[in-house]
Amino acid sequence: LHNMDRGWLGTPIDELNRMPQCAPPLSHLKVVPNHTVTVRTDLLREGEVPVPYPTKFKDAWDDVSVKMPCSEKNLFPMETEDGGGVQSRWELIHTALQGGFKSSLDVRDAILRYNTAHAKKWDFTALNLLCTEVILHPCNHVCFSPISTFTLFSPIPLLKSRMNHSLTMSQEQIACLLANAFFCTFPRRNSRKSEYCNYPEINFYRLFEGSSSRKIEKLKTLLCYFRRVSQIRPKGLVTFTRQMVNNPPNWESSQTQLTRLHITCEGTIEDDGYGMLQVDFANRFVGGGVTGHGLVQEEIRFLINPELIVSRLFTEAMEYNECLIITGTEQYSKYSGYAESYKWKESHTDETPRDDWQRRCTEIVAIDALKFRHFLEQFLPEKMVRELNKAYCGFFRSNTNSKHLSAVATGNWGCGAFGGDTRLKALIQLMAAAEAGRDMAYFTFGDAQLMRDVHEIHTFLTGRKVTVGRLYSLLNQYSSTVCKNCRTTRPDESLYSFIYQKVSSQTATDALKSAKDSG
Ligand code: AR6
Repeated sequence: LHNMDRGWLGTPIDELNRMPQCAPPLSHLKVVPNHTVTVRTDLLREGEVPVPYPTKFKDAWDDVSVKMPCSEKNLFPMETEDGGGVQSRWELIHTALQGGFKSSLDVRDAILRYNTAHAKKWDFTALNLLCTEVILHPCNHVCFSPISTFTLFSPIPLLKSRMNHSLTMSQEQIACLLANAFFCTFPRRNSRKSEYCNYPEINFYRLFEGSSSRKIEKLKTLLCYFRRVSQIRPKGLVTFTRQMVNNPPNWESSQTQLTRLHITCEGTIEDDGYGMLQVDFANRFVGGGVTGHGLVQEEIRFLINPELIVSRLFTEAMEYNECLIITGTEQYSKYSGYAESYKWKESHTDETPRDDWQRRCTEIVAIDALKFRHFLEQFLPEKMVRELNKAYCGFFRSNTNSKHLSAVATGNWGCGAFGGDTRLKALIQLMAAAEAGRDMAYFTFGDAQLMRDVHEIHTFLTGRKVTVGRLYSLLNQYSSTVCKNCRTTRPDESLYSFIYQKVSSQTATDALKSAKDSG
């Protein structure tokens, strides 16, 4: 094939590291102070449903744990003759959901029985449309009832800001938590004005609202998941790790060379980046608009791998130096289209192998880019450093030899809804990947020109042995000489042509100098 017609450039993708082949030996799964495990690790067997641990519900209604719907402290105001009193909200939920549902109206009525304060505001049009026009009894698919199968007895730690903590749960426990989210049972999570104001939304009420096809397709995708996990009990585990990086690289003085790059305008992160560290183009509230109107990269990933959604239950908004790593989620649906044209296609059988902890070898990292309103803003030195450090935080793994690290599977991070420049972001991600010791597979999502441009500059930079530190100073020079004095919305000189020109003239000067020195 002529180079111009190729769908990819750079290193062949099969030469890049993937899990499980590149994995270092995995230590035995055990509970340690910074790792909560909600199943019996000693009874973990391939092909068997993990056993919950502890075996009796441990109630924790405090500010370090998720407040659970089944807690004794979850109380509901009661209307009585003498005016007041409280009752157990869990009992009420129990009664409301026990009956089985003949229609979506029954589901609505049930949900509103323990969410009376919202009866006037919550709207169930989408759920209703789905039930009457698309499929007859979708709600029966959520027969994975939140009440009959409560299998989670350990308090769930909140993964708060500045905590380096991991949480490992079974896929079945996650399904149970998500069924609760569907039925909107999580207490204190229906209003922004609570102790959870810095957490994403978890109850699904906004998914039922309105009549857009987006909502219908999102619901179809989630109901496919609920149907699947209620037909066959899932048998694996999933780990959620909040990671903070306190000591980012000194970008200015870095002598690191860029690593290898495979770049393609075909395929997607999730299909073609299997076994790699897959980037979630995240919101600082993980999952972004997945339970609402959003339907771009992050939301789609959370819909087809719904176990990701449960991270919203316990993950506080990410700070500039934090990320969330999710290992072991399964893909349950196939989709077509994107945003407005998104469609649930069909159920998907995920054949990704499992590791020794019975987790699918699918590692996803949520990193939130900055949102830019004006093109020039992103070239401010402090913004570039912020993005470098964020990407580095996502890619870096402590105590791991480069040969055991999978390649990063990424693409136009921060360049859709968040308005970033793909050419700048590609370099930033390449620099972060180099510092973290990982190769990269970059998916341009159909943009062939971007594929050629990034490949060309990567070849140029590696050919001339331009270090991360040198590249960093070139970015800053571009910022201070081209962007700072720019009076229009976009500079006349592009970043890449600036880099070509500077590096080439430097090389010429060096050549001249060494010619002179040698007499
Ligand atoms: N594989 C590879 N590339 C993709 C894929 C995919 N599956 N899907 C999209 N792209 P965007 P952002 C490309 O806008 O700008 C969400 O609401 C495609 O070119 O999702 O970081 C989050 O919750 C697309 O334009 O990411 C945040 O709030 C580009 O990636 C916010 O959006 C960027 O995708 C993040 O916005």
